[in-house]
Amino acid sequence: MNFLEIAKARYSCRSFKPDTIGSSTIELLFEAVRVAPSAVNYQPWHFIVVATPENKSKILEAYPREWFKTAPVYIVACGDKTKSWKRGDGKDYIDVDLSIAIDHLTMQATELGLATCWVCNFNAQILRNNLQLPDILEPVAIIPIGYHNDEADTNRHILKRKPLNEIFSWK
Ligand SMILES: Cc1cc2nc3c(=O)[nH]c(=O)nc-3n(C[C@H](O)[C@H](O)[C@H](O)COP(=O)(O)O)c2cc1C
Repeated sequence: MNFLEIAKARYSCRSFKPDTIGSSTIELLFEAVRVAPSAVNYQPWHFIVVATPENKSKILEAYPREWFKTAPVYIVACGDKTKSWKRGDGKDYIDVDLSIAIDHLTMQATELGLATCWVCNFNAQILRNNLQLPDILEPVAIIPIGYHNDEADTNRHILKRKPLNEIFSWK
């Protein structure tokens, strides 16, 4: 797949097969994260890979959804507030940097035939407590990842997007 094909193949998967993901595949995902750009190249991120039933249940408490349970692995994407670049007026670029890194991860996953979903509507306090995150780490997103379950997942490949003429203009 070329880049546009990968970008169009990615979608929010909300039904996964139970098959887990090997550690070499996980490392490949993080190689894509590793090369992501960030403000001043500060790379203010830390990712927690959660695959054991005990630790997965701690994540589920923060986002209790039936579909979410089906993912074999969760990746918790955190920003390190002590490392992110702050502009002169105080604007913190932590979310921007994390979004780029997470996008690299989801695109690499797609290229490998894996499915993902961005999840941000979790209870941050529960997640913090359950994972005992230090105050400096801000959980930005949880990415459930695995192989999509075709039969149950009707959401696949529904690209509802604005037309080109609505998203940019020339001056
Ligand atoms: C920042 C962000 C947060 C999101 N949070 C959630 C979430 O908490 N739960 C969920 O089911 N989907 C979540 N999504 C998925 C979006 O609903 C989805 O990307 C959007 O509807 C477009 O669909 P697609 O990803 O299948 O192309 C999130 C996406 C983004 C980019």
